[in-house]
This record gives sequence, structure tokens and C-alpha cells, in this order.
Amino acid sequence: MKKVYVGMSADLIHPGHLNIITEARKLGEVTIGLLTDKAIAGYKRLPFLNYDQRKIIVENIKGVEKVVPQETLDYVPNLISLKPDYVVHGDDWKTGVQKATRERVIEALKEWGGELIEIEYTKGISSTLLNKGMKEIGTTPEIRMKTLRRLIDSKQIVRMMEAHNGLTGLIVENLRVMSGSEAREFDGMWLSSLTDSTAKGKPDIEAVDVTARLQTLNDIVEVTTKPIIYDGDTGGRAEHFSFTVKSLERLGVSAVIIEDKVGLKMNSLFGTDVEQQQDLPESFAHKISLGKKSQITNDFMIIARVESLILKKGVDDALSRAKIYAAAGADGIMIHSKEKDPAEVFEFCRRFRVEEPNLPLVVVPSTYNTVYEKELVDIGVNIVIYANQLLRSAYPAMIKTAKEILENGRSYESDSSMMPISEILILIPGGKQ
Ligand code: SPV
Ligand code: MG
Repeated sequence: MKKVYVGMSADLIHPGHLNIITEARKLGEVTIGLLTDKAIAGYKRLPFLNYDQRKIIVENIKGVEKVVPQETLDYVPNLISLKPDYVVHGDDWKTGVQKATRERVIEALKEWGGELIEIEYTKGISSTLLNKGMKEIGTTPEIRMKTLRRLIDSKQIVRMMEAHNGLTGLIVENLRVMSGSEAREFDGMWLSSLTDSTAKGKPDIEAVDVTARLQTLNDIVEVTTKPIIYDGDTGGRAEHFSFTVKSLERLGVSAVIIEDKVGLKMNSLFGTDVEQQQDLPESFAHKISLGKKSQITNDFMIIARVESLILKKGVDDALSRAKIYAAAGADGIMIHSKEKDPAEVFEFCRRFRVEEPNLPLVVVPSTYNTVYEKELVDIGVNIVIYANQLLRSAYPAMIKTAKEILENGRSYESDSSMMPISEILILIPGGKQ
């Protein structure tokens, strides 16, 4: 019996997959190299189904003899260990993102006289359309909540962007750019207290209460499927925080981040220009442990935000607090800074990683914005949050147009810098029947 290898993600199984397996089976015994979540997330969005779920499905397809994990987009490591006589793939990979992968397969097969068999791509099926269909169906709170942990496990760095209403939620949900062979998207939304308050015309001092914040959250949840990290400010009184945790869990939020400050909270980016008081480490630890006790699922995360660098108390203070919060049950640490120079944040991350090799680490590079994501990966950061950029870019654009209309006494001059009416009408699907 000849050995046949077929690599696939098998997230949304369609007749195209079945056709390839049927053809492969005619050549010999079929082993499916099922791409792991990590392998997939390295070049496109995380699959809807996790590896184990996809494995069960593929194992039960007629003609599949064996399923093995393919840990990289690159087939070569599996091909070297299995030395198949044939690799079977759809002919759609001759161009586009998988072109280089295909060439490496052909090269590798030469070593033992294996052959690449390409099957005509099944027409009439578009995975892009299937994906769109999945998004239209939506998600459940449980699936959405779990996705953040899956992303942390599968991606080098999880990229969150702020959203402060349904429209910005949709931008974060749908925007996609190609970077070489990688389809890049934001992985989820940050529900910033700064941008949520600002959009409501209020200061970022916890004056917009949890009920109002949950209203914004609800608007976003209704139109998106990606995971959400909620900016919980100080978490309020420890006794109240327990209720917030339950509400967030119920809505399918993946994580809340609370900061170790007490009294009237003001935005961290004021730094020491305003009077801000840090909580006692033990009392903040108590708040974290109360929160952890009140959550119902195992998936929800409470991330402790350390404000020591904001308050100029140094890296040692930050590290000792992070340790206490981790011991109290925090599922991750966010280290914040308002410096232009990331040196302190970098030092914190490196030293933190020595003691805590696995606890998720979150950073918010609003001021030290010259740092690239790949540098954050190198120092062990798991989640990067772009905390306010959509609001900050929208505001100057709105002011510019409003000013021009006042100056010109009409809107004609501003038309070219605005979205056409024909586009705004169809921006949100469902407006036209
Ligand atoms: C927010 O986005 O509200 C934050 C981050 O908490 S910062 O504004 O930098 O404090
Ligand atoms: Mg905030």
C-alpha cells in the first residue's frame, strides 16, 4: 500500500475537502496532517473549532486512515518523518500565500522519489463566503470567552484594539491586511475606560458607572464575535467587583483588567501630574481573590494591572506587587507605563519572565509607541493592547470637517475627505432589503 499525505486545517469541512480525500484514497493509505491551532494562527485567523474537535471530525471521514498533527504551515518536517509516496493538495496553492509552501513540498518529495498530485480546485465553494456566513450566525458567550485563552496558547502575540461602540467593534472585527503571506487582523477588542468615557463626553474617573459601561459592551457584543478584554478600572469596592465579574462572564467577556489604585481614579497617562494613590498590595490581592472566587467558569480571566511605573515607584516595586497578585490568583499581569522610553517595561518583562515563565503578560504601548510587536514577543509579552487609537484618530477628522463646514458655509469642500453617502448606506449590512 502506498502512503499518501494530505495537509489541511479542516475548520469548515466542505465538499472540496471530501473530494481531495476521495482522490487521495485512490492512491493509497491516507494520513491527514491536521494543522494545529498554532500552525494556523501563525498565518491566518484562529480556526472556529480547536484541534481536538477538528481531529474527531477528520478521523471519521471515509478514507482517512490516520490523523497526525502538522505543527507548522510548512509540510517538510512531517514529510521527512513519514516519507509519503504522494502528497495530495488542491491546485489553488500554485499562487498566493501557499506558493512557497508548495515549492518546499516538491523539493522535499524529490529526496525519496515522492510525487505531488494536485486536484482541480472544487468550484462554487468559497471559504471566504463560508467564513462570512459563520460570522453572520455569530457566536455564543462561552465560545467567545474561551477564545482568548486559545489565542494566548496559539499565537506569539495577541493583538487587541480598543472599541467604544458597535461601529468601532465592527472595524476591529472585520479589518484585515496582508503582510507578506500572513493575513493580519486584530484578535479582539479592548473596552477602554478612557475611550468609552470620552465617547460619552465624560472624564475617565469611573464616573461612567458599570451599568453604562455594560451598555457599551452590549452594543459591541451584539455585532461582533471576537474576544473582549474589559478595562475594569480599579474594580471598585472588592464586594462590588464580584458582581462585575459575574456580569462580564455572563456576556462572554474573556478577561477583566483591574488596576491597583484606590480613591478617585484618574487616567494613568497623567502619571504623577495628578494625585493618585496605589492600593496596598495585600488589599488589592484580596480584591483579586474575591473576584476569582465569584467567577463561575474556569475560562474567565482576571488580570492584575500594576501601576508602580506610572507612579514612579520603580521596577522592583512593580515586580514585588506582580508576584503578590499572581499568588492571589491573577490570571495575568498588565504592566503599564507612560514613558516614551520602554526601558523600564522591558526590564520588568524580562525579570518577570524569569520567575513566571507562563503567566500571561500584557502591555499597552500608548506612549512608547515606537516599539514593534516583534520586540514585545522577544521579551515574553503575550497580549498587546492598542488602547485608544481609533478614538484619537476619529476626533481630529470630525473636528476638521466640522470646522470646514463652518468656514465654508456648506459641506461641499469636505466631501472628498468623507465617506460617500452611497457607501455609508451599505456599510452596515441589513440596511437595505
Ligand atoms: C484605558 O484605555 O482606559 C486604559 C489604558 O486604562 S490608559 O488610558 O493608558 O490608562
Ligand atoms: Mg482605563
